[in-house]
Amino acid sequence: MPAHFDLPPPEKGYVFDLESGPELTRLIYQERLLTNALDEQLPESLDLSAVHDILDIACGPGSWALDMAYRYPKINVVGIDISKSVIEYVSANARSQGIEDNVSFLVMDATKQLAFPDNSFDLVHARLLLGFMLPDAWPALLQECLRITRPGGVICLTECEGSLTSSPALEQLNGMGMLAMKLAGRSFSPDGRSFGITPMLAPLLRDAGYQETKIKAHAIDFSAGTVHHNGFYQDFVIILELARPLLLKLNLTTQEEAERLYYQALAEMMQNDFCALWYFLTAWGKKSDPFPPARLDS
Ligand SMILES: C[S@@+](CC[C@H](N)C(=O)[O-])C[C@H]1O[C@@H](n2cnc3c(N)ncnc32)[C@H](O)[C@@H]1O
Repeated sequence: MPAHFDLPPPEKGYVFDLESGPELTRLIYQERLLTNALDEQLPESLDLSAVHDILDIACGPGSWALDMAYRYPKINVVGIDISKSVIEYVSANARSQGIEDNVSFLVMDATKQLAFPDNSFDLVHARLLLGFMLPDAWPALLQECLRITRPGGVICLTECEGSLTSSPALEQLNGMGMLAMKLAGRSFSPDGRSFGITPMLAPLLRDAGYQETKIKAHAIDFSAGTVHHNGFYQDFVIILELARPLLLKLNLTTQEEAERLYYQALAEMMQNDFCALWYFLTAWGKKSDPFPPARLDS
């Protein structure tokens, strides 16, 4: 990592401006893509018939929470997010889809104490918090999650690293993006060559007191010719634009170079031999139950 940066303390908050149209539009689109492209993110051992209440932290435009509420009408699903626009959007979406009885959405800051009583949820789910969670903030959030999880309940976290592709320009921009996250104090990586969040998930859960932690990796193939290629191409069209101000602010590139790399990356992504993987990791853990329900077969 370059040593010549004189950096202010990490800024809190979400890395992009969510009240701006492009990021909200991108999230609506990306959430749907991820929900389709990632394989099952919940532990196979989770018995959903014993789940009554689910919390989705930083739910975004809410497709995961809405899907769960739709698929499991007996489960009560709550989604929280700091953005009022996001919560208004997802609440309207729930109404328009007629999924209102078992889902609700609240504006709430996940970096503060969560406004739920102890032992409120059987499943706490959170996906892609890396855009706003500073490394030091994770232990407090996971303690809060432990408090509001019922004994025997489960927490399930999914985060990602940068994509790996055959496009030289996209790799250069991805490298700058990961370094920018490091320089902005938002990365677990020692050298800024990754986000460094995925290897930390299970240890963070164990440190918080969760038990029986397990992990599962997912790789999304968005190479040319795959079903996910066009969707993730569109995602990158927006995310690379949104990331540019941070790269410029940190002097990692110039306006001219950033624009040249942007159009080169988009062109390279459209080539027939473009190869690309995006890697995600799910980690889950259980809150210990001092009085587990008696098993019929024991
Ligand atoms: C990348 S999106 C993830 C959305 C969704 N979980 C998904 O997997 O697609 C990050 C979300 O975190 C929300 N967010 C940012 N800061 C937050 C905070 N302090 N508390 C709760 N949500 C926050 C943003 O509004 C945004 O909707």
